[in-house]
Amino acid sequence: MAHYAVRESPPLRGEIQVSTSKNAVLPIMCGALLTREDVRIEHPPELTDVHTLASLLSACGCRVRHDQGGLVIAADALKNPDDEDDVRAMRASVLVLGPLLSRLGEARIPLPGGCAIGQRPIDQHLKGMAALGARVTFDHGGVTLRGKLRGAVIYLDMPSVGATENLLMAATLAEGSTRIENAAKEPEIVDLAAFLCSMGAKISGAGTSTICVEGVSALHGTSWTPIADRIEAGTMACACAMTGGELLLRGARADHLRSLLFKLSEAGVHVQDTPGGLMVFGRAKQPFEIRTMVYPGFPTDLQAPMMAVACRTPGTSVFLETIFENRFMHAAELARLGAHIRVENRVAIVEGTPFLTGAPVRATDLRAGAALILAGLCAEGETLVDDGGGHIDRGYVRIEEKLSAVGGNVKRV
Ligand code: UD1
Repeated sequence: MAHYAVRESPPLRGEIQVSTSKNAVLPIMCGALLTREDVRIEHPPELTDVHTLASLLSACGCRVRHDQGGLVIAADALKNPDDEDDVRAMRASVLVLGPLLSRLGEARIPLPGGCAIGQRPIDQHLKGMAALGARVTFDHGGVTLRGKLRGAVIYLDMPSVGATENLLMAATLAEGSTRIENAAKEPEIVDLAAFLCSMGAKISGAGTSTICVEGVSALHGTSWTPIADRIEAGTMACACAMTGGELLLRGARADHLRSLLFKLSEAGVHVQDTPGGLMVFGRAKQPFEIRTMVYPGFPTDLQAPMMAVACRTPGTSVFLETIFENRFMHAAELARLGAHIRVENRVAIVEGTPFLTGAPVRATDLRAGAALILAGLCAEGETLVDDGGGHIDRGYVRIEEKLSAVGGNVKRV
């Protein structure tokens, strides 16, 4: 658990190395369960979510070790975890379901329940597994899936990122061919599919709404470097848009961040795609409207950081959150810093103000925490961000060091 002391900062200047994507690494770690051979993941980000999942994989009988900057996972003695607490510790652990089922013919996890940003059900994961031939039973707060998987056509009611990933992994070892319709198209899915193909899987169409998988009898080990974290890069671009200045985001990919880059340029921030990464210049000057959508629409994970930007941008900005039903909890915390925000159901209306003043605030989730740190960079006096029990470390690698290195007044206390 940490607090961050943030003070008003000069325009940010310099370079930030973007870390490896959390949302790419977590499913890839689960994908390592699909083979008995060693899987090596290069440059895993040092995040608590990665440690938590590593401990769950150990509970699944894997040997997990750090080796010269990489994470090596060996799932040669795979089993279902004995202790359900390991699974319950994080939502992404539902992604072990597909690999456990396809390798062992049986998987059991506790049902994830609600979380700070909404209900987050797993019905689409389960519906897809049932279509692949799993028998699904519920008891004692958990769900058990059993059966030998056979290829099928699966239609997702909504393009869920997690369900697409889980079904993609399950289908790699199913007998025959699978087609996932209305699949999610996020870059992390494309990365997962490419990783699975490097293990011998036969997948086409990842990155489109129809993904086809030809099942194979076994997958082999591999070594993989996951993509850079587009959400971390986007958050840092928002930090620059708050304070002004000039940032080079090393490793960030413009093609993964188009929706944010359009919005930043509407706000008057300049962005340039260079061979070393993305250059971001200047402060947001005009208001903007954001509707969160599935990729390639505007990512829900960047809604909170962009709301911090809107708080200091002259004029009225509007946010419509369509992905999660309860993802404006940062609005009340931003208001403690002097922001003018009105929330009506899934809409937030932000009147930009020239002054914010520091105050103690609390992160209600990971991205809310980042938004509060960003707001603190533009608030007079000290903003003390309570990370709400470790939210920020779940998804940002040493955010205080990265921001301090470019002139941000941020300390972990
Ligand atoms: C992933 C990301 C998360 C991001 C989210 C949306 C990871 C580890 N996490 O989460 O950072 O905010 O995508 O881009 O990659 N839903 C159902 N039934 C299901 C599954 C989902 O109703 O079976 C709903 C959810 O409640 C939510 C929406 O679909 O409203 C999107 O969820 P989903 O795309 O599955 O997000 P995650 O994979 O959990």
